[in-house]
Amino acid sequence: MQEIGLIGLSVMGVNLALNMADHGVKVSIFNRTVSVIDEVMEKYDHPNFRATYSIEELVKSLSRPRKIMMMVKAGQPVDMLIEQLLPYLEAGDILIDGGNSFFKDTIRREKYLSEKNIFYLGVGVSGGEEGARRGPAIMPGGNRTAYQAVEQIFENISAKAYDEPCCRYIGEDGSGHYVKMVHNGIEYADMQLISEIYMILKEIGGLSNDELQQVFAGWNQNELESYLIEITADIFKVKDGDGYLVDKILDKASQKGTGKWTNLEAIDLGVDISVITSAVNARYMSNLKSERVKVSEMLDAPAKTLTITKEELVELARHSLYVAKIVCYAQGFKLLDKAQEVYNWTLNFDEIARIFRGGCIIRAKFLNDIAAALTMEKGVQNLIMAHFFRNIINQHLPKLREIMTLAVQSGIAVPAMSAALAYIDTYRTADSGANLIQAQRDYFGAHTFERTDQEGSFHYDWTGINE
Ligand code: 6PG
Repeated sequence: MQEIGLIGLSVMGVNLALNMADHGVKVSIFNRTVSVIDEVMEKYDHPNFRATYSIEELVKSLSRPRKIMMMVKAGQPVDMLIEQLLPYLEAGDILIDGGNSFFKDTIRREKYLSEKNIFYLGVGVSGGEEGARRGPAIMPGGNRTAYQAVEQIFENISAKAYDEPCCRYIGEDGSGHYVKMVHNGIEYADMQLISEIYMILKEIGGLSNDELQQVFAGWNQNELESYLIEITADIFKVKDGDGYLVDKILDKASQKGTGKWTNLEAIDLGVDISVITSAVNARYMSNLKSERVKVSEMLDAPAKTLTITKEELVELARHSLYVAKIVCYAQGFKLLDKAQEVYNWTLNFDEIARIFRGGCIIRAKFLNDIAAALTMEKGVQNLIMAHFFRNIINQHLPKLREIMTLAVQSGIAVPAMSAALAYIDTYRTADSGANLIQAQRDYFGAHTFERTDQEGSFHYDWTGINE
């Protein structure tokens, strides 16, 4: 019988433990607040749970090489737990971090533990509470041989998409947590795009919550089919008193930080992930509620005018959302591409797209198309260049332009949608305005420039031109 130790019985930890136990794995459980262990034992009464009441007891309950999964809060708690475990671990044991840890911490921890002959796996787990219980998407990183010892367990408990487990070995050290971080960045962007489309439909189109519910439910039957579209349709169903719950929820979006990490990382690596950046900024702006209320009274808003039918607006929204989504995924994969070069990983992008097809928050039907495009056109520099996606963009780009025009004329804030459009326009501009920037840099700082007609580095005496 397979066995594993699991430390940290928060919602995610308990659900993962139950999922493993259901799959015939004997799970030794432990939690820092020990009363929780008895509560869990009593509540779930699972024959494959083995309660342990100290770190030492947990470690000793397992046969070597031990497999121990930590499901604790990212950051210092992970380092503290590692130190508590270390005196009891032996060479060859495998420690697994299943939390949303920052990938650089995972790289550091893996190195630290490998010096002590302990294997360390950083494993991204997505899908929230329900995913953990019924099948999450799993992104394991770390030593490949050590991973093989837990591969069967992880594949068994993971979500299945088209009969394939949404779990594949990602790569060395922090790569699993890196991919999870980028997943979260895409998640932020996807949510922001949907919320901008919601505002366009509501404010310009005047759609009611019932109509919005129908629109999103309908979109969930076509190319936009995805978990986030599905739950959006559900949200518009929920009534509260004489109105709808969604209208009574304060418009301040929180965040735990993974979107911010993705952005800091992208800036560090010099990759434009503007749609994800706009999504994080939009959450910051959303928190300035009282200032927004004040400014809404200070600055005039244009009239909201709809020059097309509601049905036409809904169709424009559908196609525009699809194009913007493609851009946000393209940016995420572009960041992964740069990361593999910088951190010396070999990432398999079509496999990553396959993992994302089930269990995780960004699961979507079109990840099948992404996986297919990345398989057929291995090495393509950007998803936007893949035949399938460039055809879609060419087909629907005029609609994105049209809806952006409507939004701008009506004064609806669409930072992520417009970032997607700007990215496409920037990317398809063969001759940009950067020549002028180079001239300016050379003018004020003699920073030199390259020429289109000659090889080499040049400087011009700009200040002499007025003499
Ligand atoms: C997942 C989610 C999860 C994340 C929450 C909250 O893949 O299951 O990404 O890991 O923690 O969605 O994120 P924010 O609080 O930052 O919105």
